Amino acid sequence: MTEKFETALVHAGRTGTKTYGYVNPKLTRGSTVLYPDMATKLALGKRYLEPVELYGICGTETHFALEAAITEIEGGSHCQVVGSGLAAITMPLLAFLSAGDHLLVPDSVYGPTRTFCQAVLRRFGVATTYYDPMLDEAGIAALMRANTKVLFTESPGSHTFEVQDIPALARAAHARGVKLFMDNTWGIHHFQPFTHGVDVSIQALTKYAGGHSDIILGAVTVNSESDWAILRKGSLELGQYASPDDCWLALRGLRTLSVRLRAQAVAALEVAKWFAGQAEVARVLHPALPSCPGHEFFKRDFTGACGLFGVVFQPQFNAAAVVAMIDALKLFGIGASWGGYESLVLPTTGTISRSAGTGVFEGEIARFQIGLENTEDLIADLTHGLTALRAG
Ligand SMILES: Cc1ncc(COP(=O)(O)O)c(C=O)c1O
Repeated sequence: MTEKFETALVHAGRTGTKTYGYVNPKLTRGSTVLYPDMATKLALGKRYLEPVELYGICGTETHFALEAAITEIEGGSHCQVVGSGLAAITMPLLAFLSAGDHLLVPDSVYGPTRTFCQAVLRRFGVATTYYDPMLDEAGIAALMRANTKVLFTESPGSHTFEVQDIPALARAAHARGVKLFMDNTWGIHHFQPFTHGVDVSIQALTKYAGGHSDIILGAVTVNSESDWAILRKGSLELGQYASPDDCWLALRGLRTLSVRLRAQAVAALEVAKWFAGQAEVARVLHPALPSCPGHEFFKRDFTGACGLFGVVFQPQFNAAAVVAMIDALKLFGIGASWGGYESLVLPTTGTISRSAGTGVFEGEIARFQIGLENTEDLIADLTHGLTALRAG
């Protein structure tokens, strides 16, 4: 991205500032595209790697505008939008893997990614090994096999926020011809995947890009023509599609992403630091705080944070006490997802799967998404919640 983030978000995916027409790209819905004659149809039919309107599933100008914007934010060469953040994980895995291949996945991965590996990839003959997300270059290299094709990463990890040493993992992967995938949803804008060695970067646009908890959408970005050919072909073979209405809403969300992200990051760090000072809290899993595993990699590789973090309670507070705290909160919705304008909370312990012996913390964990409410109001609500925790 040559322009600064804020400027790029205002202009990305638009034709320009001095065109005769509306400010925003059009919302185009469509299945059939009509061609003037057969010669045009035959000529255009081969151009599926380009943003050309060929048939609905290949995308419309609305899709292409969003893909151009995400390409710019991620710093890659090409982007494919798909129907959900989960589809942005499963589609490239299916496109790059074949029967007999081996895949490495961090133990801290988003639960449905694990389910996909166990339920679908296993059925199609792809074996998955789960690894400690804090492994270094030598540690991950030791787990690689002759048939390892993809090293999947998610940094920070879902719910427990381990920040991975992506450049070290990239070195280990590339030395063996392995592709490095990263779920970069948490690090949107603040982690530039391709400058750190990532080959395939995944964004759940449902979160901060949408920003209003009203769409489900994903994006996969790559940074080479050869990876783009595999990804685009795989996406079309699998019939992946995203609603143009959701793409249009994501484009609208992107225009305010920089201010929302900044405000939510500042508020979240303030709340995280407040939690760190409470007697009921054993530690806070916020990548910008030294108490978070991999904090040193966060400081080295990220330019900032978003508004999602975890809190580990002291061991004397059991799961029922955490539930009592959550039920006592008035300003925090109880629900999945994050990146919207409103604050949310979810208990973590008991809801996550681990199989590589990681994820052991001092006590029960809860995950907080900080929205655009006033921070003093949120802290007052949380103070009330801690009273319920002690009583529970
Ligand atoms: C890290 C991460 N990746 C991917 C997803 C999936 O996104 P979606 O809900 O759009 O399928 C989520 C959803 O919570 C997530 O937290």
